[in-house]
Amino acid sequence: MSKRSTFGNIFGTIAVVGGSVVGLGNIWRFPYVAGENGGAAFILVYICMSLFISIPIMLTEMSIGRAGQSNAMGSFRRLSKTRAWQGVGLLGVITAFIIMSFYSVIAGWSIKFFAESVSDGFAGKSPNEIESAFTAFISSGWKPISLALLFIVMSGAIIMGGVTKGIEKANKILMPIMAIILVGMVIKSTTLSGWSEGTKFLLNPDFSKITWSVALQALGQSFFSMSLGMGAMIIYGSYIKKKSNMFKIAGMVAISDVTIAVLSGLAIFPAVFTFGIEPASGPQLVFITLPNVFAQMSGGYILSIVFFVLLFFAAITSSVSLIEVMVSFVHEEFRIKRVQATLIIMIALALISSACVMSQMPGSTIRVIGLDLIDFNDKLTSVFLMPVGALFSMLFGGWVLSRKSLFNELSSNGLFKHDTLIKITYFLVKYIIPAVILLLFITETIKFFIPAT
Ligand code: TRP
Repeated sequence: MSKRSTFGNIFGTIAVVGGSVVGLGNIWRFPYVAGENGGAAFILVYICMSLFISIPIMLTEMSIGRAGQSNAMGSFRRLSKTRAWQGVGLLGVITAFIIMSFYSVIAGWSIKFFAESVSDGFAGKSPNEIESAFTAFISSGWKPISLALLFIVMSGAIIMGGVTKGIEKANKILMPIMAIILVGMVIKSTTLSGWSEGTKFLLNPDFSKITWSVALQALGQSFFSMSLGMGAMIIYGSYIKKKSNMFKIAGMVAISDVTIAVLSGLAIFPAVFTFGIEPASGPQLVFITLPNVFAQMSGGYILSIVFFVLLFFAAITSSVSLIEVMVSFVHEEFRIKRVQATLIIMIALALISSACVMSQMPGSTIRVIGLDLIDFNDKLTSVFLMPVGALFSMLFGGWVLSRKSLFNELSSNGLFKHDTLIKITYFLVKYIIPAVILLLFITETIKFFIPAT
């Protein structure tokens, strides 16, 4: 077999891993989940979870990939030398598929909203008109389907370019542009009258709002946002150079992830409060609420174009990592050429994404426990499949993989002396994280399958 590709220098690696973690999760999902779960209190729990749970998980998944030098399924098989554990890798591939089913639809919406912004389509519309235009669009069938397909084709094109020339190159260009756009938006939001109320909502915690359910939501959000529990960090880990410092990568990436999420909140909530909008508007926050805001505010025309470009870039750098999990699996496990493997995955994704869109059409019978496929797949992955995937990966890293192999990976074979950090990580991975996931999981899964009426 030819030599496996690796990412370039540390900047390139951070750009790619950062590109995976920073996505719709930060800009579309984080603000509305924070809004629904009490704002600042949620953010506090979220930051703790990111530090003590998500960073160690990310380190362990990257270690599994770098030690296994294979796709998610192959890495587990090689390291455990048995077939039983490869199921965890396979579960990751399936999870990636389900996430992509709705990710591409939402990313497709961002293309539509970009076009709408360019043609100044929000200007002069009343809130009612904006809302009904959105509902008409998402339930129109062929429009969102064709945009989701367009998005899948664009992501596929990057993947076909390969690991270094496609994925790494795209990320190195797109990530810095995104950061600049977001900072510009936050600065602009300080000029709004709702600025102090919006920032207070995000930064001034009301501790009485912290409940078990908020904690699980925070955990699910953190897993989603840090691309954990489904093999993305395993496959990316397998491309990380043996000499690269894992702590530096995971640390920088986690900081970027949390910072970008909070900055998106800071860019969005001042506007939400300025125009008297409900912070708990749910998934439509970015697609109904914000266009309203843009329609009313000075400079809204440029800002809305910029915002939807940001959303689109964020989405495409992440979807590349989700698709790479599936492509590397098909490519290595079935020995199918990379380009063909990508085509097969694109076709499969086109079908499932279309089903997701169709489930949102009026009178559609595609529903699971009362939810359309987009909502259901989102919930299924973030509160069930990702925690389960992360749990098994931690059991693997803590109990199956030898302590020596894990320590070797974490220190890059002794190149970096992080003795204390490594010991803390190991302790968290072996005992604390599995216990926390199990606890939250048992209390909340029960509720998920028996929805409160
Ligand atoms: N983290 C990305 C986001 O915030 C989404 C994503 C990419 C993802 N790869 C993933 C989520 C793997 C879960 C698992 O939008």
